Amino acid sequence: MKNFYSISDVVDLNRLIEKALFYKANPLVDKNLGLNKRLGLFFMNPSLRTRVSSQIAAENLGMRSFVINGSIESWAMEFDENAIMNGTKVEHVKDAVGVMSSYFDILALRTFASLKEITEDNSDFIFNQFVKYSKKPIVSLESALLHPLQSLADLITINEVLNRIQLNKKPKIVLTWAPHIKLIPHAVANSFSQWVNYWGESEFVITHPENYELDNAYTQNAKITTNQEEALEGADFVYVKNWSSYKKYGEVIPIKEDWMLNLEKLKVTNNAKIMHCLPVRRNVEISDEVIDSENSLVQQQAENRVWSAQAVLSEIIKSNG
Ligand code: CP
Repeated sequence: MKNFYSISDVVDLNRLIEKALFYKANPLVDKNLGLNKRLGLFFMNPSLRTRVSSQIAAENLGMRSFVINGSIESWAMEFDENAIMNGTKVEHVKDAVGVMSSYFDILALRTFASLKEITEDNSDFIFNQFVKYSKKPIVSLESALLHPLQSLADLITINEVLNRIQLNKKPKIVLTWAPHIKLIPHAVANSFSQWVNYWGESEFVITHPENYELDNAYTQNAKITTNQEEALEGADFVYVKNWSSYKKYGEVIPIKEDWMLNLEKLKVTNNAKIMHCLPVRRNVEISDEVIDSENSLVQQQAENRVWSAQAVLSEIIKSNG
């Protein structure tokens, strides 16, 4: 594995999931693998889980990690080629990334979608500028389009449950849109769709209000419906997430119906397990009674972020020396 950006960087998904579960059972088994290596974690946006789980994963591999809160602690970055830098931008991405990739053995980046410039967001411009100018492997900590460490943790979690409950059919996984008070990027929903589709071991259904269709590059052959109740029928896993309209990019499209997930709605499911990447807006996206129920997997997903990051960092170290 050179870089880690999407499912395309994974050679064998089931093996990667097994590796993560092996690390969960044996956290320090490779404690010397990353000895004398440094991981740089550059955040252009806030984070709790991604930041800390990546640092713990690095520590478990014997690797030092350095967090740079780019949006507040570093120089304002210029991304335009040939820019005349006589404004507020202080350092060009090619200089900053060149420097960081001489300091670090692996460089990781979080950068959210602007939700203003669809062409720029769709090309994952900022992430790819880092790839272009880095001399070292780049790991996505969530980009404009995808959140692969989260998706791997989600599939680790689903596999753990399936190893325990043994369904006699493929599980039905439902990704349901939920309300939010802000415009939210598509990365988690895109990425979850991409990884579940690639995994291929489920009946995958996506439900959302009209105008909230995701880019079909990620949804592919998933069944898509605007009828949430129909989608939830017989579901084994319900992944709850808000995303903004892709079709009407950057616009707030008001929704009249009630899309928040509550206990009443779950009655038609197959005693579904509930997933969310966190942070969650309680009683806006999901009711307290659901998120605090014994069927909620949200804490397990968050814990599995460590093993997801550890498996990926381990693969990169082994591939790149
Ligand atoms: N799920 C997730 O990525 O959480 P953070 O934004 O806190 O890192």
